[in-house]
Amino acid sequence: MVDFKLYTPTEVVFGKDSEAQLIPLIRKYGGTKVLIHYGGGSVLRSGLLLKVKDALTEAGIPFVELGGVVPNPRLSLARKGIALCREKGVDLILAVGGGSVIDSAKVIGYGLKYDGDVWDIYDGKYKPEGSAPVGVILTIPASGSEMSDSAVITKDEGMIKRGYNSDWCRPKFAIMNPERTYTLPAYQTAAGVTDIMMHTMERYFSHDDDMLLTDAIAEALMRTVKECGEKLLKDPENYQLRAQIMWAGSLAHNNLTGCGTTSDFATHRIEHELSSTYNATHGAGLAAIWPHWAKYVLSESPGRFAQFAVNVVGVPNDFKSAEKTALAGIEAMVDFYHRIGMPTSIPELIGRPATEEEIAEMAFKATRSRTVTLGRMKVLDYDDVVEIYRLSNV
Ligand code: NZQ
Ligand code: ZN
Repeated sequence: MVDFKLYTPTEVVFGKDSEAQLIPLIRKYGGTKVLIHYGGGSVLRSGLLLKVKDALTEAGIPFVELGGVVPNPRLSLARKGIALCREKGVDLILAVGGGSVIDSAKVIGYGLKYDGDVWDIYDGKYKPEGSAPVGVILTIPASGSEMSDSAVITKDEGMIKRGYNSDWCRPKFAIMNPERTYTLPAYQTAAGVTDIMMHTMERYFSHDDDMLLTDAIAEALMRTVKECGEKLLKDPENYQLRAQIMWAGSLAHNNLTGCGTTSDFATHRIEHELSSTYNATHGAGLAAIWPHWAKYVLSESPGRFAQFAVNVVGVPNDFKSAEKTALAGIEAMVDFYHRIGMPTSIPELIGRPATEEEIAEMAFKATRSRTVTLGRMKVLDYDDVVEIYRLSNV
């Protein structure tokens, strides 16, 4: 068990009436002029944006708005947001949407506390020393960004997708009403389920596997998401199921399930190149990579994979070969991904195989021009990453 710190300062308000808390929360966290930040239109169609604007108007809190955040959000819009907030004197950013909107809001928050170009943070040229407060009304459980310390953004020039982690960007509050997720397309629900499970799997597949309590929490979370996720696709307006998934999404990535373990996150880093190269949905990209990563690194810790197979996926333990049990667990996950409509290879994800040039370019970017390795379960270099893309490409 490795030493750890758990810091989850986000105030969570969860449930059907949670949006009623918006104004007190904005006031509590110092918002006197608000930027409402949102995506491509789902919040207009659902009426949520109008509801938020009406609440702010009624409370006498001035606001400006900036929509248009796309999935795999772009730096150019965040830069626009920084300039807008400076010009209008905004002191709190309200993200109304999913991970893309929240991450864009976090980048704006960083930018408001730094006079240089906010990309310097992602280039390793500047370490942030603060952020303007960010609040969230969550509409899709997936990224866990509503409680996480991470902000992932894509620089338009060269489509370079990078994440940066620091406690500064953890949202001050997160309003979560499961009813708001009823309108999600099935594909986004399934991609969210995949991402949520993966955030805990990235922490679970670790050589530091002697933290019994964290394992028990992680396994319960993964089982719950897997079981409820599958039922949800047949019953999309089931409040109880939506609620389990939504709460799991936050707990999967606020580091509760990483206490005492060393996280891996290679699958995420390998996937980020798929979403930036092909504009793929992040969760779907994870499903296309994970089974191949898992088989590639399995020999590092067959027992750990066997434990996952038995305790999470429900594979019977044959008590003879950990490797065999582990492989059955990976195959069961492949079946699960297919049942919920997720791809398990690059051709299934993008409709054609990746070219060798694309694979080389993605591995080059993932390893930052061959200067860094990925993962900890098995430390992966450029050649390993190329191999994992190739395994996923058939
Ligand atoms: O843009 P709108 O019109 O709102 O539509 C969105 C978008 O097309 C739609 N949507 C959201 N809520 C909806 C809805 N449609 C109908 N009804 C609703 N209630 O769903 C689509 C996807 O939204 P997006 O915000 O992109 O999804 P997600 O939450 O999965 O976020 C993905 C981004 O988060 C990053 C990913 O890399 C990706 O860029 N991640 C961020 C993390 C973090 N900050 O901690 C961790 C993750 O591992 C991940 O990397
Ligand atoms: Zn993720």
